[in-house]
Amino acid sequence: MPGPTAPVPVAPATTSTLPGWLADAARIRERRGTTRHTRVVETGVVDFAGNDYLDLSRHPDVIAAAVAATERHGAGARASRVVTGTLDVHANLEAALRQLTGQESALAFSSGYTANLGVLSALSGPDTLIVLDAHMHASAIDGARASRSPVTTYPHRDLEALNSVLAQRTQRRAVVAVESVYSVLGDATDLVATAEVCRRHGAVLVVDEAHGIGVLGGGRGAVHAAGLHDDPDVIVTATLSKALGAMGGAVLGTAALRDHLLNSARSFLFDTGLAPAPAAAATAACAVVQAEPERVARLHDVAARLAAELGVEQSAGAVQSVPMPSAEIAYDISQRLRHSGVHVGCFRPPSVPDGVSRLRFTAHSDATESEVALAGRLLREALHETAAYAVRPATAGTVA
Ligand SMILES: Cc1ncc(COP(=O)(O)O)c(C=O)c1O
Repeated sequence: MPGPTAPVPVAPATTSTLPGWLADAARIRERRGTTRHTRVVETGVVDFAGNDYLDLSRHPDVIAAAVAATERHGAGARASRVVTGTLDVHANLEAALRQLTGQESALAFSSGYTANLGVLSALSGPDTLIVLDAHMHASAIDGARASRSPVTTYPHRDLEALNSVLAQRTQRRAVVAVESVYSVLGDATDLVATAEVCRRHGAVLVVDEAHGIGVLGGGRGAVHAAGLHDDPDVIVTATLSKALGAMGGAVLGTAALRDHLLNSARSFLFDTGLAPAPAAAATAACAVVQAEPERVARLHDVAARLAAELGVEQSAGAVQSVPMPSAEIAYDISQRLRHSGVHVGCFRPPSVPDGVSRLRFTAHSDATESEVALAGRLLREALHETAAYAVRPATAGTVA
């Protein structure tokens, strides 16, 4: 499983009751510099931290669909999808996702997290090896942990290593999980080559398209762009909360896969159905992606300009990742930018798969030229002020 951080020595708890226990945990977080906060976001900020890549969360068609679905069905689905929680909005959503991605079948989940949890645990068992790229998202790691399978990882995007893991396995079956575009570094998987390695060893490939759908392949996703959408051994998981601007998740693949998940994915069966508003919103968003292809093109233009301003190589997707010399500098610069009205993501160990603290700037299609320029100028100023130039590490994506 991806790298646990080294244990941080901490004085033993004075008491075993909850207050002492929580205080110990808080001290460890403070010492590691990984304390997180939930701050209410001010309006009017420049947002390069969110995942609303196509700015669809505020699109009039998307909002209207959410309102209409709420008025028709109420605020919630009221039950699991297999009890009375399947509504016409779910059927419409699954049809829209099928159409967008070119897949035979779709099953909507309440989030991308539960979709990954569901598919990995439902395809598991003692005779199935789960193989994760080392940079997989926490939801896939948790899905693997929840499975009854042996689990292993291979170095990020290293297909030779994947080949030998699959060749040496003792289990009859194998499921390999990758992301089409990785969430922290923004780099992409070579899906054609990965699928070829999987095919050679009779392994199923699960592709998490959380950062690919709406972004790559004209919005239809990287799996479609690679021509793998009708390969029965390639499964797609999706979130509706990023480029589609809503909330929820889905698994896409064959009708037989949908049937299997519907009957055995615990995070589908024992979870209330996706609420009507986000289901209808995501359905409308799928239509907008296809009707307004210029949005996807604008996103890539913004990503190119943003990467140039930040002095990093442009990534495959919306995420532009800037390595920082230390967790403290990363946090300090993210706060300076925030106080100047620009929000960016700050990722520090243990949340970064490669152990390098990073600022993550996410492009979105409606970002203006002046917002992009402002982000670049503020970053350059902050780096100079923190003397980061002198101590920056030699990693991929250098700061110019
Ligand atoms: C790669 C990846 N997979 C899955 C998820 C989970 O999606 P959701 O937010 O819909 O639960 C995310 C969200 O952060 C993600 O980045």
